[in-house]
Amino acid sequence: MLLGQLADRYGRVARDLRVSLTDRCNLRCSYCMPAEGLPWLPTEETLTDDEVVRLIRVAVEHGGITRVRFTGGEPLLRRGLEHIVAGAASLVGSAGRPELALTTNGLGLDRRIGGLVRAGLDRVNVSLDSLDRARYAQLARRDRLDDVLAGILAADQAGLRPVKINSVVLRGTNEQDVVPLARFCLERGYELRFIEQMPLGPQGEWRRDDMVTADEVLAMLGGAFTLSPVDGPRGPAPAALWQVAPDTTQPGGRLGVIASVTKPFCGGCDRTRLTADGQIRSCLFSRQETDLRAVLRGGGSDEDLAQAWRLAQWGKPPAHGIDEPGFHQPGRTMSAIGG
Ligand code: 5AD
Ligand code: SF4
Repeated sequence: MLLGQLADRYGRVARDLRVSLTDRCNLRCSYCMPAEGLPWLPTEETLTDDEVVRLIRVAVEHGGITRVRFTGGEPLLRRGLEHIVAGAASLVGSAGRPELALTTNGLGLDRRIGGLVRAGLDRVNVSLDSLDRARYAQLARRDRLDDVLAGILAADQAGLRPVKINSVVLRGTNEQDVVPLARFCLERGYELRFIEQMPLGPQGEWRRDDMVTADEVLAMLGGAFTLSPVDGPRGPAPAALWQVAPDTTQPGGRLGVIASVTKPFCGGCDRTRLTADGQIRSCLFSRQETDLRAVLRGGGSDEDLAQAWRLAQWGKPPAHGIDEPGFHQPGRTMSAIGG
């Protein structure tokens, strides 16, 4: 185990830290949360803003992390988000200041974007699964499409380009949105990524056969656009990128399809995760967590924290095994782990 980096026994080194800032959300996307009845983390178990910044500092200064992405639940529900972003922006690791990104559902982003950019935010990913108001409301269980669109526009106007959009396609629900979503993003210069649905929602609800595969999404896109693969090493980036040729309906551009289930990219994964209650998860699908909060609140030094994190990452599983017999869904939903 090398000091100064978060490595695992399979030769992977973490550079990308996902920080979940809250398990709460103002939407209830069916692939992520149950309609009701999910208990929230108690406040005293949630890391304070300063505790979060300290752990990010340890990851950047002692763990070789170069990119930090804030997630949730919905990270905009965290009042101290701007303070945390500013704290992370002031850090300097071996590769300089970390790149800072936010994954959000977009609600209220228009009112926060100015402050976030001033605090040092570099990029945003906004989740958008339909452009049809009724289908959006069905999927997210809240009628908030217009607010999301306002948030996306504000991010674009604030210069966080290219805005990235994430979409999950559910069979029988929003397959008809695939081509309109692509056209919407191409017209505006947004980078769209379709993500295969993973078993990270309510327990027992994911069915392999209900998942719309990356190949199916590509076939739908191929029926509407001329696509060619974007060459080059994929590295740790999970999206397979496609170049869309311009036509009379759109100016061309790039989009991605993330085959998390059917073509896993675990072998190149460079991620580590911190939950809102201070647990390290070396993988979205980890069966175990490492309690950094206990080390932190027990008076641990930066080096104690770094050592606990290195041990946690050393135990990162080789792959998620979703497609293998004996697979167990993690005990927390995506909203409590962080995308
Ligand atoms: N499978 C795939 N992606 C998911 N997300 C949330 N739950 C799932 C799931 N079960 C995505 C959302 C959002 C990001 C936080 O994670 O679409 O873009
Ligand atoms: Fe909220 Fe994101 Fe989960 Fe939807 S996917 S319920 S927006 S945390």
